[in-house]
Amino acid sequence: MFDFITEEHKMIQEAARDFAQNEIAPVAAHHDETGEFPIETVRKMGQLGFMGIEVPEEYGGAGMDTLAYSLALTEICKVDASHGTIMSVNNSLYCHGLLKFGTEEQKQKYVVPIASGEKIGAYSLTEPMSGSDAGTMASRAVLNEAGTHYVINGRKSWVTSAPFANYIILFTMTQPEKKHKGVTAFIIETDKPGFSRGKTEPKLGIRASATSEIIFDNYECPVENRLGAEGEGFKIAMTVLDAGRIGIASQALGIAEAALEASIAYAKEREAFGQKIGQFQMIQQKLADMKCRVDASRLLIYQACLAKREALKGNGRYSMEASMAKLFASETAMYVTTQAIQIHGGMGYSKEMPLERYFRDAKITEIYEGTSEIQRMVIARSLTGLR
Ligand code: CAA
Repeated sequence: MFDFITEEHKMIQEAARDFAQNEIAPVAAHHDETGEFPIETVRKMGQLGFMGIEVPEEYGGAGMDTLAYSLALTEICKVDASHGTIMSVNNSLYCHGLLKFGTEEQKQKYVVPIASGEKIGAYSLTEPMSGSDAGTMASRAVLNEAGTHYVINGRKSWVTSAPFANYIILFTMTQPEKKHKGVTAFIIETDKPGFSRGKTEPKLGIRASATSEIIFDNYECPVENRLGAEGEGFKIAMTVLDAGRIGIASQALGIAEAALEASIAYAKEREAFGQKIGQFQMIQQKLADMKCRVDASRLLIYQACLAKREALKGNGRYSMEASMAKLFASETAMYVTTQAIQIHGGMGYSKEMPLERYFRDAKITEIYEGTSEIQRMVIARSLTGLR
């Protein structure tokens, strides 16, 4: 039916499904419970090419397209969204940005080890007082008189993978008076003086994906580590988030698919009042609505992947399609996991089943990489052209 899905796409989807079921499923509940970062499985994902799916082979990646990335990420998230978060940040927030805006030297030095999973990448935009309004930042980068390096000071928050990241793409202000046109991007090495990590967030869901604050105290960033031109950072951040939002949509789809499949199995097996609960119309209605929303999410994700493919041929944008996919898939994940718990009753509420983990993990997809409210804003602005 979908002839844009090739044999190669099906192969990576199957490889991700096998890996998730054989390697991640046995450890997912443990990592959720303890909050331990799953470094061993993440390294193996790197060896299999999952940490740089769209990265060309010459930079250590699998050299595939966004659809391949989305299909593989969905399979990983169907088993564990925490692994999916780490995978998505490496792929779309980190590698995509460096490939699109980096110099040849930057790509060789900072993409190759991340795409292979040897090292971990992160992306840092948010600050304690700057979330949805991403153009307002208190952190600063000041070029030294000799013009050799920038001195960076400030505190960033909610940085996914930061506790383990070797390199981070940082967005900070070089010319605050210019507002979003004063934002510049830098590649940060986390083992250099002036960089430290703040508190690790105790999170409701995706508990195995470590998230922390990062602190810059007179961190000296060489000029050659600036990503793009001065003042280009906001556009880089937004361009990268468009790619990231397809990843989060795929993550949400994986969570929703897992909850739907569990619910279908349970409806066929559990009996009440002398019949299978799947024979009750109220359960049937839930399953039907869940299935429609899951499939509609998948179609919006395909649309976004194809829109990105077209956009990358020129210098076009696919912001609206990415936001539509993320908005709908994340709200679907929340809806489907809520209904799945309801269908399972007490069993769904118990930690003995993964449904409550799916439910907790689903919530973040409506928040990070732009809240549902921001996605609606992007979609409406794209439709009207009004700000
Ligand atoms: N691609 C390219 N350029 C873009 C763009 C995009 N997607 N979106 C905006 N721009 C450009 C605009 O064209 C405009 O350029 P000009 O000045 O040349 O005209 C400029 O950027 C400013 O755009 P806006 O006026 O639209 O900016 P705004 O201040 O109104 O903000 C917004 C727009 C959509 C609300 C944006 O701020 C936004 O997306 N906010 C949410 C931020 C977000 O997603 N944060 C999550 C961070 S990552 C994370 O969650 C943690 C993690 O580790 C995973």
